[in-house]
This record gives sequence, structure tokens and C-alpha cells, in this order.
Amino acid sequence: MTLEFTDRIARIPVYPAAGGYAQQEPLVRLASNESPYPPLAEVREAIEHALGTLNRYPDPTNALLRARLSDRYGVPATRIAIGNGSCDVLLAAGEALLEPGAELVYAWPSFSIYPHLSAASGARAVTVALDSEDRHDLPAMLREITVATRLTVVCNPNNPTSTALPLADIAAFVAEVPPHVCVVIDEAYCEFNLLDDPDASVALLDRHPNLVLLRTFSKVYGLCGLRVGFALCGSEDLPRAVDQVRQPFFCNALAQAAAVEALAHQDAVEERVTRTIAERLSVDERLRALGLDPAISQTNFCWFQLGEDRDEAEVMSGLEERGVLVRGGGALGRAGALRVTYGTPDENERFLEALAEVL
Ligand SMILES: Cc1ncc(COP(=O)(O)O)c(C=O)c1O
Repeated sequence: MTLEFTDRIARIPVYPAAGGYAQQEPLVRLASNESPYPPLAEVREAIEHALGTLNRYPDPTNALLRARLSDRYGVPATRIAIGNGSCDVLLAAGEALLEPGAELVYAWPSFSIYPHLSAASGARAVTVALDSEDRHDLPAMLREITVATRLTVVCNPNNPTSTALPLADIAAFVAEVPPHVCVVIDEAYCEFNLLDDPDASVALLDRHPNLVLLRTFSKVYGLCGLRVGFALCGSEDLPRAVDQVRQPFFCNALAQAAAVEALAHQDAVEERVTRTIAERLSVDERLRALGLDPAISQTNFCWFQLGEDRDEAEVMSGLEERGVLVRGGGALGRAGALRVTYGTPDENERFLEALAEVL
């Protein structure tokens, strides 16, 4: 007898995570848009301190972290949801909002977790192609919103294409979306976006109770190994609903302690952003010198087409043979492209040398 799983299990796609995590040898890991910089000394100290409390459950209300986020963003703590990574908040929002008969609107290619939202809930996914510059086509997304739409997700800046829309466009979109639709702006990479002040979107929350800004400690804060993210919300409804559908204690004690400490070091965040942007400028210039045409990145990664005469899998395996891991566009919604995280100057040099050899 084999186990009988639900139809839902047959529907849910396997998340296309990058490989290489089990390998011990030093690799240049540019496949998952992680920070190349280890956690700050103060953050490590906070984690070590919290180790002594691991015989206790973590604070299920995440009170200190929500209070610090509330101080930083001026959003009441009751309108802040914490998650085991920001994906956890997003998937819980999907569970709370979506069901058969409901609709979800998002762009494609975009973040690989979004297809899980419809597959897990039985809601209908409506995907909208990016525009000619690989940015969200917000007017086209608006046209897809119906009375059945419960959720729309805008990834700004967008993964995997690295492009962003100005806040004015996002604000105009949110103003047009009917109030029964939850608008999630996934801002995982907002700190690297030079188009606007990364925190300017927070002001929109006061005008739109249906708005959710999804943020993470996984990228610029360099804490993806601990899994902690958050959502700043326009009302208390979504934080309440996502807590209803999840197990208690979803955010572990070390993650809470690390996130609280990390927030206190915005100078280090700014410094890391500056370093990443310097690498962004230099890597993109070198890519152009190789005859490639990277998208205008507002993130910690670049995205470029390889060209018709080149095979994505061959280029990827050539890079891997040289110890460099990147992501191929095929797994991310567009074959023939590469998505490459900006690493340290040394890592980027190794990537560029390997790429030049392989091409
Ligand atoms: C657009 C986007 N949102 C969210 C996440 C997930 O972040 P977390 O680690 O907080 O779950 C990622 C991770 O790559 C991402 O690219």
C-alpha cells in the first residue's frame, strides 16, 4: 500500500532551491542572493547570549522584535507580523486569504514561491508578463483584478530580473486596487534600490488598510540562516490572520535575538549596501565588456540573457566546474538567462574570470 496524499500535494510545485549547500569545499556561492558578509560581531554576541535560554520556548508574540520594528518604522506593533523568513508570512497570508474560487494576481517571471500560493490553496493564479524592460506591468495587473481577487503580489525590486519600479508607480497602483484585495509589496531587496528611499513606501500604509510591505532579515542583514522576516501592514487584520494559521513559536529565539540586535546597526547596513552597489557597478560594467546586457539592477544580484547561441546548462556547468554557483533562468521562469548574486570583490573576480573562459 502506498500513502494517499491530498490533491494539494500533487499540485504544489517543488521550490527550485539552489544546490551546493551540502558541499563542504569552498565554492563561490552566487546562486541565492545571500549576503557575502557574515553576521556582525554584536549580532553573534546576541545569538550566543540567547543560546543559554534555549531550554525555554521563544516569545510567541515576538514582542521585543515587533516593538523595535515599530520604533524604527513608526508602524504600531499590532500592525507588524513576524515570520520564519518573510516567505512564512507570505505563505500564511495565502492560506488565510485564498481558497478555491478566489484569484491571485502576480507578475511572471517573479519570485519562485508565488506559484505555491495558488497551488496550496486551490485559488486561481493569474500571471501577468513583465513589460519590455522586465519590470512589473502594473496597468496590466490592474486589468486582471476582479471581484474574485483576494491577493496581488508585486515584487519590487523584482526577483529574478533585478529591476524596480519607482514608488510613485507603486502608489498609483495601490490607489487603484479595490479595498477588498490584499496588496503585498515584496520588498526583500528594497535596501539596494536607489530609485527611492527604501522606507518611503511605509507612508502608504496609513492610506491603505489592505497594503502589506514584506521585508526580510535574509538579505542586507545577512541572517538568512536563521530565518526571520516581517510584514508591515496597513491594518491589524493580516497580522492576526497569519498568526491564526501558523503553529505557535514560528520564530525561534536565536532569530528573534539576532534580528533585534541587527536593527540597532543601521550604519553597518548602509555600509554593506554601499559595498554591494560598488560591486554592482563594477560587475555590470565587466559584463557589458563581455558583450552581455545586464538589466538595470536595483538589487544585490544581476540578471542577463546569455544570447541565442549559448546554452544555459552548459554555461552553468562550466561555471560550476570552476567552483562558481549561479542560477540559471530556466528554473526561474526564463530559460537562457543567468541570475548572479554580487559577492565580495574576490568572489566577483572569480565569477567574471570563469564566465569569460566559459563564454
Ligand atoms: C523576492 C523575495 N522575497 C522573499 C524572499 C524570501 O526571503 P526569506 O528568507 O525572508 O523567506 C526572497 C528570497 O530569495 C526573495 O527573493
